[in-house]
Amino acid sequence: MELIKKVAVVVLMTTLFSGSVYAADKAAMVKEGRKIFITKSQGNCLACHSVQGDESIPQTGTLGPRLANMDTYPKDYLIEKIMDPNITNPITIMPPLGRNHKITKAQVEAVVVYLQEITKAK
Ligand code: HEC
Repeated sequence: MELIKKVAVVVLMTTLFSGSVYAADKAAMVKEGRKIFITKSQGNCLACHSVQGDESIPQTGTLGPRLANMDTYPKDYLIEKIMDPNITNPITIMPPLGRNHKITKAQVEAVVVYLQEITKAK
């Protein structure tokens, strides 16, 4: 094979391969985020929030707003909101789970990936 064709094949394979690794990473984060969302000792978000697009979790949380169209919110806003909701709302009853070290920044990021993916208009 000519060198130029070899290079083209390598570039194509790399693009395809990294694309699928990214998709696998994302699927794993969605799964992890969902677990944190519903686990009492972690996020316990379902105690207060229902979620658009995931009817497999109990939709009984009503203390907080129903989480919908989260993909239209900036990612950084959501990370900050979950790390420390007091920054944007000093009198909120939502607990500062990140600031209190109940969940790590990486766990907060997984929850955001889950919310942005699951509540996307399909
Ligand atoms: C004790 C109840 C409670 C828990 C637990 C809770 N929240 Fe909240 N959350 C609220 C309330 C009340 C608000 C609305 C007031 C505000 O903005 O702070 C809110 C607001 C939000 C918002 C902003 C929604 C919007 O439309 O602007 C997001 C996102 C959110 N919560 C995500 C989460 C996630 C993710 C968890 C779990 C890691 C969680 N919440 C846990 C009560 C809660």
